[in-house]
Amino acid sequence: MRLEGKIALITGAGSGMGRVASQIFAREGARIAAIDINGEAAAETAASIKREGGKAISMRADVSNSEDARSMVDAAAREFGGLDVVYNNAGIEGESGFLAQLSEEAFDRVIAINLRGVWLGMKYSLPKLIERGGGAIINTASVAGLVGIKGAAAYCAAKAGVIALTRVGAVEYGRYNIRVNCICPGVINTPMVERITGGKGLSQSGIKRNSVLGRVGTPEEIARTALFLAGDDATFASGAPFIIDGGWVAG
Ligand SMILES: NC(=O)c1ccc[n+]([C@@H]2O[C@H](COP(=O)([O-])OP(=O)(O)OC[C@H]3O[C@@H](n4cnc5c(N)ncnc54)[C@H](O)[C@@H]3O)[C@@H](O)[C@H]2O)c1
Repeated sequence: MRLEGKIALITGAGSGMGRVASQIFAREGARIAAIDINGEAAAETAASIKREGGKAISMRADVSNSEDARSMVDAAAREFGGLDVVYNNAGIEGESGFLAQLSEEAFDRVIAINLRGVWLGMKYSLPKLIERGGGAIINTASVAGLVGIKGAAAYCAAKAGVIALTRVGAVEYGRYNIRVNCICPGVINTPMVERITGGKGLSQSGIKRNSVLGRVGTPEEIARTALFLAGDDATFASGAPFIIDGGWVAG
């Protein structure tokens, strides 16, 4: 098992990629702190892990709130006796609208959750990882942090910021044996994309535009990348954005 004995905190664990990553990490031997602003959804993820014989706790926390961010890290470390892996995955799509039409509130909300939330998750977990003598942080960025997407100014800015935070975390904390990487998913089939497309899924032309493989990605494909980055297969990977996008950015 690739995460035997490891303790992993995963945010946005109640849905989509966070839920699947929680389940896959648990099957690989990790004990999971499943965190989500939707406490019931996080509890369902933890219950699904326990049904399979794994170990998990769940907690409701808003990653953009500093008290919540501090408490989620403390709860995981207290329950399991430390922290080895932190997957800052929670995020929202925010409102769609061209830059000049976007309200200040909508902009601030996306930055608060998708960027500040990642920073708070790093800020409060780093001391715990240092205590353990090292660890791995995985942040969820996006292809949106690498290219401009119409109607998604705040989202793109936040995700580019996550790539920057990842680099700074890596250079500042590498000496503590802490690796910090981020994943830049392309279009992945999750409830977020269902909401964006109004439940219709991406059109054939949309799929062609956003993937040279002719399909959208699955949450499992991203979770397996996170698993790689969390474990000992990635011991020399740090500070890097891992683009898992079916070739979107290459095209
Ligand atoms: N689906 C895609 O195509 C895609 C592509 C690139 C990046 N991403 C990113 O991947 C991550 C996961 O997205 P997903 O597609 O699985 O979406 P999702 O909506 O299925 O899951 C996101 C989860 O985050 C939780 N969440 C939202 N705000 C929160 C907060 N303030 N505090 C704690 N939890 C919160 C939600 O309740 C939800 O359970 C996000 O950061 C998203 O921006 C998604």
